[in-house]
Amino acid sequence: MVEFSLPRNSKVGTGKTVKAPPSAKRIKKFKVYRWNPDDGKNPEVDTYEVDLDTCGPMVLDALIKIKNEMDPTLTFRRSCREGVCGSCAMNIDGSNTLACTMAIEDVKKDVKVYPLPHMEVIKDLVPDMKNFYAQYASVKPWLQTESEPPSRERLQSRDERAELDGLWECILCACCSTSCPSYWWNSDRYLGPAVLLQAYRWIADSRDEYTGERLDDLEDPFRLYRCHTIMNCTAACPKGLNPAKAIAETKKLMQERR
Ligand code: SF4
Ligand code: SF4
Ligand code: FES
Repeated sequence: MVEFSLPRNSKVGTGKTVKAPPSAKRIKKFKVYRWNPDDGKNPEVDTYEVDLDTCGPMVLDALIKIKNEMDPTLTFRRSCREGVCGSCAMNIDGSNTLACTMAIEDVKKDVKVYPLPHMEVIKDLVPDMKNFYAQYASVKPWLQTESEPPSRERLQSRDERAELDGLWECILCACCSTSCPSYWWNSDRYLGPAVLLQAYRWIADSRDEYTGERLDDLEDPFRLYRCHTIMNCTAACPKGLNPAKAIAETKKLMQERR
């Protein structure tokens, strides 16, 4: 039988343990992926014992406490701390989610924290989002029109506006795309659920006049049709959105215009 093994420099080792102060009564262990491109070492998982009595309730609170009080070298992204910027997306307890909206008490055992899967890692919990953002830019995520601009706003009916619900709320965190097996294996050519949801957000907008061009641009065996309706994306979305439905609606429009 063929045996597969990770390349030697990808094997994850056991790192250091940073203990909680002796006075701590409620201790939770955080096992955090660490990788530094500058030290030439393999990735390691460090363990931090966090005193929950002096820590906020969310996983992001614990990471900030670790960085401020236990290990300033820990690197991660965050901004809003309330689930609207998307920058703290990571893999916690085996699922892609936002560290700022994930309660520590919802993780029963040690809290395992890794970067979003199947992305290049820049450092520790920070994935390289260059390809993701380039794919986003490729769907031209802005209103495109040909007609003369009106003298005031471009109006929509209530029903037309309602078509955008479930789409505009996307915060581009990439939890869905990095949960999608098709995206893992073909992220160079398949746009993935987050970008396809964003593409559909403009296709569905009654004010946009480039629907045909937008659909032409997606008519490709890889950009759109690598989605095999596995639904991991919808299960992963921390905002409760349904990228698989947006992809299905796009495929339906493709069929209807044939
Ligand atoms: S439904 Fe499509 S986009 Fe979502 S996880 Fe499955 S293959 Fe990926
Ligand atoms: S659809 Fe959900 S999981 Fe995907 S990028 Fe948008 S907010 Fe994140
Ligand atoms: S810090 Fe903004 S979504 Fe978590």
